Amino acid sequence: MDTIRMENAYINKIKQINKNGKYAVLTMGCQLNENDSEKIAGILKESGYEKTEDLSKANVIVFNTCCVRENAEDRLFGKLGEVKKYKEQNGTIIAIGGCMMQEKHIVNKLKESYPFVDIVFGPHTMQDFPKDLYESIVENKKIEDILDIDGNIIEGMPIVRDDKIKASVAIMNGCNNFCTYCIVPYVRGRERSRNPQDIYNEVLSLSKQGYKEVTLLGQNVNSYMVSEKNNGKDVNFEVKKEDGKIVTVNSFATLLKLINTIDGIERIRFISPHPKDFTDDVIEAIAESNKVCKLIHLPLQSGSTRVLKDMNRKYSKEQYLSLVEKIRSKIPDVEFSTDIIVGFPGETEEDFEDTLDVVIKVKYEQIFMFIYSRRVGTVADKMENQIDEKIKHERFNRLKKLAEEEIEEGNKKYVGTIQKVLVEGKSKTNEEIYTGRTETNKVVNFEGNNEMIGEIIPLKITSQHVWYLKGEAIKL
Ligand code: SAH
Ligand code: SF4
Ligand code: F3S
Repeated sequence: MDTIRMENAYINKIKQINKNGKYAVLTMGCQLNENDSEKIAGILKESGYEKTEDLSKANVIVFNTCCVRENAEDRLFGKLGEVKKYKEQNGTIIAIGGCMMQEKHIVNKLKESYPFVDIVFGPHTMQDFPKDLYESIVENKKIEDILDIDGNIIEGMPIVRDDKIKASVAIMNGCNNFCTYCIVPYVRGRERSRNPQDIYNEVLSLSKQGYKEVTLLGQNVNSYMVSEKNNGKDVNFEVKKEDGKIVTVNSFATLLKLINTIDGIERIRFISPHPKDFTDDVIEAIAESNKVCKLIHLPLQSGSTRVLKDMNRKYSKEQYLSLVEKIRSKIPDVEFSTDIIVGFPGETEEDFEDTLDVVIKVKYEQIFMFIYSRRVGTVADKMENQIDEKIKHERFNRLKKLAEEEIEEGNKKYVGTIQKVLVEGKSKTNEEIYTGRTETNKVVNFEGNNEMIGEIIPLKITSQHVWYLKGEAIKL
């Protein structure tokens, strides 16, 4: 792993020529993409720009794109049509970054049909964005800054975080799994893990800023350090803690245990783990670490062993179910959430029913459901037995109905219990109502006050709905 420290030379150059400029960053992807957006915003803020929500007032608009499904791509093209007029009226600099820029056919389409775009950069060249921006401003030229090769680990990027209570921290990047439907390994490159000292320092600094919850991010968080280990590198990193103690970190499990010791951080989450890498040491680390939330996101994708094989997921229906059972037996009160794809090529009614069967058996707290989307360059895109759109939608609706019934039924177990809720703020729709989340990530709405924001408070759950619970503050 090559760790590179970002230099600020171009940020300082922009600062000198920037006069009260404003920026807008539009995030279109997953949590890693959001985390990247916070770093792009950090670069712009350090360069002297101020954030605006009003695109017509922005001097720089950055799109941070996603290409995991077709609808994510469509959103970019829709929005580009809208910002064209700002370019024409105000000379706004339009920059596009993110995963979609790693796809050659997309960049070609941009060049042909959207020539007003100024800067195109990828996830591997984010650290060079200040240089690209500077050259675009000063030389008024079009810039294409994309690296085909896998990126390095970049440390020291400035960051403007969207939230003051919960923060996300990328611990690794890239993916080596090549699930046959998925574009991510092609656009994010191979797995590479951050140095644990850098991760520790970042979380420690978050705790000092008052953050209560961290989510450790990676395409496969539990493959942390695995790729380095497989490449024969010595991964026994000695991390120096605030109190001077030295701890060895050489795996995801040891990293979790280290983060668990940071005072002030009260909740630790992580996404996404891969079931195939869910080793016993990780289960033990979660069981032992009081701050690690007992909600595990365990992507299923399909409940059919045959489809799982075609997806290259490396586990069967039975192995997935026994992993769930093993985790349940070692971690009391643990709950699960998942990702499911319907309509993968060749999925039969019987295969689909296997997926429904797993949903019934596991009783998930939350299910993220997706209709299979063909991605150029992936193995599944070339499979001949693609499923008819009508059948895909029909299956999706059946899954959604079942998921909602199961989740609402499962929510009944909370009614009458007392849950520790991290209060996030006021509800978006009702000024009187405050909202927060349980350890299992359930939204709870209740009558509260401003002093509760950012605190973990006990709430008595009074009723359940599909997407949230209602609660009331209790007197201790
Ligand atoms: N690395 C993570 C998440 C990757 S993308 C993991 O392996 O779990 C997030 C989710 O998008 C995936 O879990 C999958 O359910 C979904 N997804 C990925 N590619 C897709 C495609 N081509 N069509 C539909 N859904 C897809
Ligand atoms: Fe995509 Fe599979 Fe990698 Fe997740 S593990 S990012 S689904 S290839
Ligand atoms: Fe999308 Fe890239 Fe994330 S493709 S899901 S933004 S890693």
